Amino acid sequence: MESDPEQVFRRAMGAFATGVTVVAAADAAGRLSGMTVNSLTSVSLAPRLVLWCLGDRSARYAAFASAERWGVTVLGAESETLARRFAQARAQDMHAEEAETLAGVSVLRQGVAQLACRTHDRIQAGDHLIIVGEVLDVCVRPGAALTFFRGGYGEIAGPAD
Ligand SMILES: Cc1cc2nc3c(=O)[nH]c(=O)nc-3n(C[C@H](O)[C@H](O)[C@H](O)COP(=O)(O)O)c2cc1C
Repeated sequence: MESDPEQVFRRAMGAFATGVTVVAAADAAGRLSGMTVNSLTSVSLAPRLVLWCLGDRSARYAAFASAERWGVTVLGAESETLARRFAQARAQDMHAEEAETLAGVSVLRQGVAQLACRTHDRIQAGDHLIIVGEVLDVCVRPGAALTFFRGGYGEIAGPAD
């Protein structure tokens, strides 16, 4: 059994099954980038708020930390390739044709849901920045979702799928 506290913590949190999202944001030069993120959490209904946590070792930290608007795409079961691509280290450009606009915010096309967000708050917490976003608009589509559990991808279908 692993005894290193960090590794044990990682394994414990890896047992918390999540969906998988891609957060899209533009840097100061307007270059759109995508990052695979599973820390997305719903925070508040009124106002509608979500949060995600940005690691301070990200090569794209400045762009994501300073973005005033950003889009979230909740990936469908068929999008493991996209999840792997946007999780690769170094800037992961999102091509113009891969994005669409929701409430004036660029979001990755595809997915079972999309959210257009405006940064509401930023809270430093250890080695991550908690980014809280006000939800400007959402789009929901049918289909099975991509999941992440114990370091591996899977999928789950809803009752109506
Ligand atoms: C399933 C999965 C979920 C991830 N979730 C997050 C997350 O919530 N926050 C984060 O900062 N990085 C997360 N990452 C890591 C980023 O996708 C990316 O690998 C990391 O930022 C390193 O690339 P960069 O230095 O180019 O940003 C996740 C990776 C995977 C595979």
